[in-house]
Order: sequence, then C-alpha cells, then structure tokens
Amino acid sequence: MTTHWTDIGASESILEGSAIETLVGDQILAVFRSGGELFAMDGMCAHQGGPIAQGAVCDGCVTCPWHGWQYELSTGIQTINRQPLMRTFKVRESGGRIEVEIDG
Ligand code: FES
Repeated sequence: MTTHWTDIGASESILEGSAIETLVGDQILAVFRSGGELFAMDGMCAHQGGPIAQGAVCDGCVTCPWHGWQYELSTGIQTINRQPLMRTFKVRESGGRIEVEIDG
C-alpha cells in the first residue's frame, strides 16, 4: 500500500470556520479549516455514521450532528472516552489547492 497526495479542491473551497465532505477512492473525508489550519478525518462518525463535515466546530473539536459525539480535529480522539475512534489524514495546501495524503 502506498500513500500519495490527492487534490480535493481549491483553497477557497474551504473557508475559515467551514468544512466540506468529499470522496477519495472509497474513503469519505470531512475536511475542516479551523483556527487557520486544515484538518481531515473520516467523514462518517464512528458511532452510527453521521455526517461529521456537518458538525459544529469549537475549541479544536467537532461535534457530530446526529447524537453529539465529539472528536478532536487533530487526532480523531473521542473526547469522552479518549479513544482514537476516528481516522485522521494529513492535509496541506500547495499552489492554491488543498491536498490530502491517503492510501491508494
Ligand atoms: S452518529 Fe455521530 S454521534 Fe451518533
């Protein structure tokens, strides 16, 4: 298995305080811009598959819109049980584009 950077859109497609859901291969991703940084994690909540990209972001955490499970954006750790329930991915900006590093 190799990893490579995949273009997921223009920098301006994710403005500060917003997020998008996108599909890379068969991986649904939620990509956030918060506090001037980009974060990418599994787009489906570890609880029952809720749409994490639609969650509210506060203090570096996102809250699932379905039942309120909360995860750290940078680690995918669930804030109540402190377990890394959500996979996270590296994300960067290059030449006005946003790229995620993902297996493929
Ligand atoms: S599906 Fe996310 S908290 Fe239930």
